[in-house]
Amino acid sequence: MSDTDATPKPDFRKGLPFRDLPDGTPVAGRVDDDDVIVVRQGDELFAIGAHCTHYHGPLADGLVVGDTIRCPWHHACFSLRSGEALRAPALDAVTCWRVERAGDTVFVREKIGDPPRRRPAVSPASVLIVGGGAAGLAAADMLRREGYGGSLKMISADDSAPYDRPNLSKDFLAGSAPPDWIPLRSPDYYRDQRIDLVLGSRVASLEPQARQVELENGTVHAFDALLIATGADPVRIPVEGATDAQLHYLRSFADSQALVARAAAAKRVVVVGASFIGLEVAASLRKRGVAVDVVAPEAQPLERVLGVVLGKVVRRLHEDQGVVFHLGQTVKHADGRTVTLSGGTKLDADFLVLGVGVRPSLALAERAGLAVERGIVVNEYLETSAPGIFAAGDVARWPDPHTGQKIRVEHWVVAERQGQVAARNMLGRRERFDAVPFFWSQHYDAVINYVGHAETWDAVEVEGDPDALDCAVRYKQAGRVLAVATIGRDVVSLQSEAAMESSSAG
Ligand SMILES: Cc1cc2nc3c(=O)[nH]c(=O)nc-3n(C[C@H](O)[C@H](O)[C@H](O)COP(=O)(O)OP(=O)(O)OC[C@H]3O[C@@H](n4cnc5c(N)ncnc54)[C@H](O)[C@@H]3O)c2cc1C
Ligand code: FES
Repeated sequence: MSDTDATPKPDFRKGLPFRDLPDGTPVAGRVDDDDVIVVRQGDELFAIGAHCTHYHGPLADGLVVGDTIRCPWHHACFSLRSGEALRAPALDAVTCWRVERAGDTVFVREKIGDPPRRRPAVSPASVLIVGGGAAGLAAADMLRREGYGGSLKMISADDSAPYDRPNLSKDFLAGSAPPDWIPLRSPDYYRDQRIDLVLGSRVASLEPQARQVELENGTVHAFDALLIATGADPVRIPVEGATDAQLHYLRSFADSQALVARAAAAKRVVVVGASFIGLEVAASLRKRGVAVDVVAPEAQPLERVLGVVLGKVVRRLHEDQGVVFHLGQTVKHADGRTVTLSGGTKLDADFLVLGVGVRPSLALAERAGLAVERGIVVNEYLETSAPGIFAAGDVARWPDPHTGQKIRVEHWVVAERQGQVAARNMLGRRERFDAVPFFWSQHYDAVINYVGHAETWDAVEVEGDPDALDCAVRYKQAGRVLAVATIGRDVVSLQSEAAMESSSAG
């Protein structure tokens, strides 16, 4: 049962029969005014809040794995025992209740208080985080959660405190999420957690031996342990004849706000690149009533990542909403409002949005002499070639135990989870980063969830009906499933993630 069902929810205070609790399947109900799920694992019983603390996903529709429950929407993982958000993208715990069995009846009693404060095994004198994005914030958050009480500073080139970057191309750009939804944390959080946030400041150099960084403005900051979480920058391509004011990129909150302001008066936009970001921008602009042409060299959008079958599905989704694709083409030049394509087609555009990929921000690491190979090279503990200096997120290339390769990805959840693991390793935990990569992308009402990592494959297995937006697509190499993309099958996505975790365990 999902919490969206109209049927009245059982009152768990009044008790429910033990036999009505299937092993490992959440049952939704309420306790006073709270929506709650009860989960039975063998003879053990748990009761926790029914809504994920990320975007309010219905945990009743999630997957129970051991003593955890995973959210169906973006795979956050919560402890059933304590409610703690064990894995991003949720950062905050859900409430837990004490459960009691009396004979054949199960009662949910009072709320369980916070777990005792943890003490780290190792406590660096000071931690510095370079980068105020997904990985940086998740690391700072985890350091405090793990009981780290020392000096904690986050330096970010961005003028805004850490925010929900995936939303910038989706609901915020479409106009359905107000600006106050975008910050990941309130200003009070940084004060209460004693996180010294230095915004609008770019770190220019790093001296691993001297344990210090220098900002562009000449200020020097010392550290004992360091996390490099500098993310990625959009690839900028010249468009002959176009003025800077005609070209938009989307990485930051400021970029998205500039697009919103521009879209308000726009009638036609050309999106260059059928990437995830380019297509999400197309969808959001269509929701604002702007006509969109997408220009890209490939034969089907997203073909390189999702293959032909899902590429066609994504294309149709956009075409149904009026997006016009010009595939197998590039932009040749612009002249005022007229954009000419390589095939000769002329398009009218108020402005262009370029979504042609990103490059990891490696300059700092390169200049500091850290090992860099199309990403900052880290070991399984996310430590760089310099001891005590860690890297996480879009910049990091790590040894992935699932593919046996060193990989680098650009996924929100991976960045946050790496930030969390790096934080624990700064505190002496020696925890391997072995999470199965996961990302999601949204196109109108269709959400694609992708687990695993497949740069190439020799077989694609399609289950279900892609055109009906109800399918699981498995990407295989030599008979082994490397990745699974799903639409409308959230539990399959969670099950695939869990299967990949256990098949690589040990
Ligand atoms: C519009 C958009 C939509 C997206 N949607 C999705 C999605 O739906 N699903 C998904 O999985 N992923 C999505 N992504 C990708 C995801 O946002 C990234 O993978 C993630 O943000 C990476 O986190 P990070 O911490 O490595 O880098 P970032 O979040 O980019 O943070 C890097 C930070 O470092 C700062 N910085 C850089 N250099 C320096 C320096 N020298 N000194 C100080 N600070 C510096 C930057 O200002 C920034 O604050 C999206 C990305 C964008 C841009
Ligand atoms: S809503 Fe639960 S992970 Fe996003």
